[in-house]
Amino acid sequence: MTFSKLLIDWYLQNRRDLPWRKTPHPYPVWLSEIMLQQTRVAQGLPYFNKFIAAFPTVQDMANAPEEKVLHLWQGLGYYSRARNLHATAKMVAFDLGGSFPDSYAGLLKLKGVGDYTAAAIASICYGEAVPVVDGNVYRVLSRYFGITTDISSSGAKKEFTALAASLMPAGQASAFNQAMMEFGALQCVPKSPDCAACIFNDTCAAYATGRVAELPVKLKKQKVTDRYLNYIVVKDAAGKLLVQRRSEKGIWHGLYQFPLLETEEFTSNQATVPLIHSFAQLGFEPEQITLLSPEVVIHKLSHQKLHIRFWEVTTALTLQDAIEPERLKNIPLPIVLHNFATRHWQ
Ligand code: ADE
Repeated sequence: MTFSKLLIDWYLQNRRDLPWRKTPHPYPVWLSEIMLQQTRVAQGLPYFNKFIAAFPTVQDMANAPEEKVLHLWQGLGYYSRARNLHATAKMVAFDLGGSFPDSYAGLLKLKGVGDYTAAAIASICYGEAVPVVDGNVYRVLSRYFGITTDISSSGAKKEFTALAASLMPAGQASAFNQAMMEFGALQCVPKSPDCAACIFNDTCAAYATGRVAELPVKLKKQKVTDRYLNYIVVKDAAGKLLVQRRSEKGIWHGLYQFPLLETEEFTSNQATVPLIHSFAQLGFEPEQITLLSPEVVIHKLSHQKLHIRFWEVTTALTLQDAIEPERLKNIPLPIVLHNFATRHWQ
């Protein structure tokens, strides 16, 4: 039997019963594929269910405020995905009469929908013969065919896309693409795959030559930048807190946070206190400054390592726009801030 036939047979017997696989409607497929970029199924599934419960249709999502979408997304990371999701929901609902574009080329025009997502939706929902190439597909193909092309190199995508296209059986784009992804997610996993139990262990080039652990080849390591963040939890005379919406581009755009004092280098606790005293953004002289997080909280993102401390600053003033700690639950916060708030205010 051919690679593709075996693969699809394997898929039909082993695929997970996932809610977005129950219907080929583009709304749930689009939602799940956006969520599953950089996120595993186990982590994404509860979010998918929450979103479908809150927004049963694309119109429901379009009619919701962006903040509600960001709040439901809280903890999934890469928040630009959530903002693009909402922008696309509005476009589909208000500009396209409620229907998603019905082709790969049309889908590509949507915000946040790139080659991968457009190919996934077009093949799964419309049977269009466009191959998906994601991390799973790179892994499966590089191992099975013993391909040593660096997957972070400029030509890799073209090479793997052409190979996947040549393997796709006519009329089976949906099953083939999902089978590739599912096989990479369940069987041909990144670390220590169970090759003894693999349907391809008599034909896989990497297995035959003992190179499973070396493939795929990925040479470019992402550079990670260290950042030093001091969150200033301002407590006014009424016990209320200051929060601000992040407007700058970059991580957490559109989410809320406490006033933030960022330093170029790590500063000791002792050296940080005077910086807080002269932190112009506060607009008042702090009464008391207390470190709330005895340990620096480390939060790793794909390209950044954040070193976070939380400081309480009290003032005898009553501040305009300050909120009750209780209300932090209702606004979208980066997950580190949410976790801190949950610990600190129970
Ligand atoms: N990861 C991303 N999309 C997927 C899909 N459709 N099936 C399995 N894993 C996936």
